[in-house]
Amino acid sequence: MTAMTFVARNVADAAAAASQCAILPLFQDEKLAGAALKLDKASSGSIKAALELGDFTAKLGESFMLVGTGPAKRILLIGCGNSNTFNREAARKFSQTLYHALSNKQASEAMLHLAGLGLKEKEAKWMLAYLARHLVAASYRYTATISKPRSAMKLSRLVINTKGALKLQLASSALNEGKATGQGIAEAANLANLPGNICTPSYLAQQARKLARSSGKLSVSVVDEKQMRALGMGALLSVSAGSEQSAKLIVMNYKGAKAGTDPQVLVGKGITFDSGGISLKPGAKMDEMKFDMGGAASVFGTMHAVTTLELPLNVVAIVAAAENMPDGRATKPGDIVTSMSGKTIEVLNTDAEGRLVLCDALTYAARFKPAAVIDIATLTGACVVALGSHATGLFANEDALAEQLLAAGIDSHDRAWRMPLWDDYQAQIKSNFADLANIGGAGGGSITAACFLSCFAHDYNWAHLDIAGSGWNSAPKGATGRPVALLTQYLLDRAGE
Ligand code: BES
Ligand code: MN
Ligand code: ZN
Repeated sequence: MTAMTFVARNVADAAAAASQCAILPLFQDEKLAGAALKLDKASSGSIKAALELGDFTAKLGESFMLVGTGPAKRILLIGCGNSNTFNREAARKFSQTLYHALSNKQASEAMLHLAGLGLKEKEAKWMLAYLARHLVAASYRYTATISKPRSAMKLSRLVINTKGALKLQLASSALNEGKATGQGIAEAANLANLPGNICTPSYLAQQARKLARSSGKLSVSVVDEKQMRALGMGALLSVSAGSEQSAKLIVMNYKGAKAGTDPQVLVGKGITFDSGGISLKPGAKMDEMKFDMGGAASVFGTMHAVTTLELPLNVVAIVAAAENMPDGRATKPGDIVTSMSGKTIEVLNTDAEGRLVLCDALTYAARFKPAAVIDIATLTGACVVALGSHATGLFANEDALAEQLLAAGIDSHDRAWRMPLWDDYQAQIKSNFADLANIGGAGGGSITAACFLSCFAHDYNWAHLDIAGSGWNSAPKGATGRPVALLTQYLLDRAGE
């Protein structure tokens, strides 16, 4: 992964600062001022001349690259639209424009003159965090199994001139948060993009151990199938029964707060390939079911951010990793399994496997006396029908937790939408032969799946994020790294309480 460095500095004279590229935000309705005016004068009026050409009008999303004649070798003008409509949406557009303008250039370093945006402290911090996150996440390239990978952006160092805009220390911490989140997103996307023959449950367990080696506050334990049997995890084991790959319950324990502080618990669905099992999926697009560990990948990505930022929280991450395959030993439709909770489950469809691995992980989570448990899963095609790819489906058994997650999603622009978990739906997962059925029949598929999970989450505040739509794209195929930004923001918010 390309490493990117972000530095905040107070540069007194913008025109005297050596840089491969000076970046100037410009508004349509404002005269050249500050750094822009200084750089214009130092480059014999080239910025004014560019504006007079009419090719660049400072509309939001426009950019124009000039050759600098002074200490700045290039001058990149970025259009910011109207100064009084510059909101967060515009700030995101600004970051995307900056990325696009530099992604095919040779500059390895650049200096952004922030004051030109005229932002208040809170918005300037938000802007820098988003910018750092976006540059890191957008420049991620999948390289693992490609002989000649596409080249990534050359830019590896961005200096922010905070002079007249923001205190250095606030800028640095915003940049750090953004960078760590961006790396977490890239990390999650990369894991999810890996094929099922590389990214197996054991591979995920290795990744957890690797992460633990990078942080003194993180320890890892892996529950193997023998231990699962002893714990009575009949639901989880029923999913891996048909696979050559043995299931792993990966537990990452991050201790950033006082011992005894109730942890935030993240639980990820880690189906490294979902063939559907005996209820085999159709062949078309079955390859996409390598993404069925996207929830687990987002847990890894979030833990990457948590350990990098050394958040003052206790966080437990549990990944329920298994491969769902047909075989002579595979679970059959109609089979009844006993979960760790003691509840029996009639497996009416072996393709509804996510809830089977998650229910045992949720029961296991109770031992950590969680402040809250959040599971993340590519759980249902029905969620894609309901919400498409823009919103993550949110379900919760507690309103305050739901509000916190919705707020973190809005703040980080990694949004979720709450769905109902009413008792009325519970009737759909009744079974004649067991305590529960693993499918709910026609209608409300993402809700009945969540209802199923809720039966195993009575003992604590719990939320479920269905990322079947938001976690990856079909065209071009690739993981999105969601909802790492939402989860990281949620944890940053808890750390700030
Ligand atoms: N992993 C799938 C859900 C999924 C589907 C994720 C499409 C992303 C895109 C899950 O295990 C599954 O197969 N769910 C079934 C449930 C059904 C059998 C009740 C589904 O959604 O069809
Ligand atoms: Mn399935
Ligand atoms: Zn699945």
